[in-house]
Amino acid sequence: MSDRKGYAVSVNESADPNRRDFLYIATGAFGAVGAAAVAWPFIDQMNPDAATLALASIDVDVSQVAEGQSITAKWRGKPIFIRQRTQQEIDEARSVDLSELKDPMARNANLPGDADATDVNRAATDKEAWLVMVGVCTHLGCIPLGQAGDYDGYFCPCHGSHYDTAGRIRTGPAPENMAIPPFSFSDDTTITIG
Ligand code: FES
Repeated sequence: MSDRKGYAVSVNESADPNRRDFLYIATGAFGAVGAAAVAWPFIDQMNPDAATLALASIDVDVSQVAEGQSITAKWRGKPIFIRQRTQQEIDEARSVDLSELKDPMARNANLPGDADATDVNRAATDKEAWLVMVGVCTHLGCIPLGQAGDYDGYFCPCHGSHYDTAGRIRTGPAPENMAIPPFSFSDDTTITIG
């Protein structure tokens, strides 16, 4: 559904009527980066209490997220990067030999803990274009920039961690791949997180 501002997002209103205000859509790489950098400190002040956040799951309408576009949702106080990757991004991620990875584990809450960090294990099940992950650098918790860095994926400017197009750490001080939260597509255009 569309929210009152016309954004293409949807939320679990019974759990948290204000959550819609935390979601926004951006249509380009730099748009997404700029919006994230500016908007987060402001909207963070409107957080519902921690108990509400801890219990809630959210439904995110991704019907307006075309190939090559991203949105950021907020779940349990954390930014969730949702991106429909391009074929080039998928191909780049799949061309990487697992032995090249700094962190060989998928870090995907939807898979067993010992799943390896193949692109298939990082992407949404049966929807290889979709990457849904906690947008928090695994070094000291900064929010990385999207479509940036040496691997055209994500770049954390705090101390220079470069992640690839599957959100896997490649160079820099971050020790782990960015986490994949529990999520599923509840229909073709809705992702339920949590
Ligand atoms: S917090 Fe990201 S590199 Fe240090």
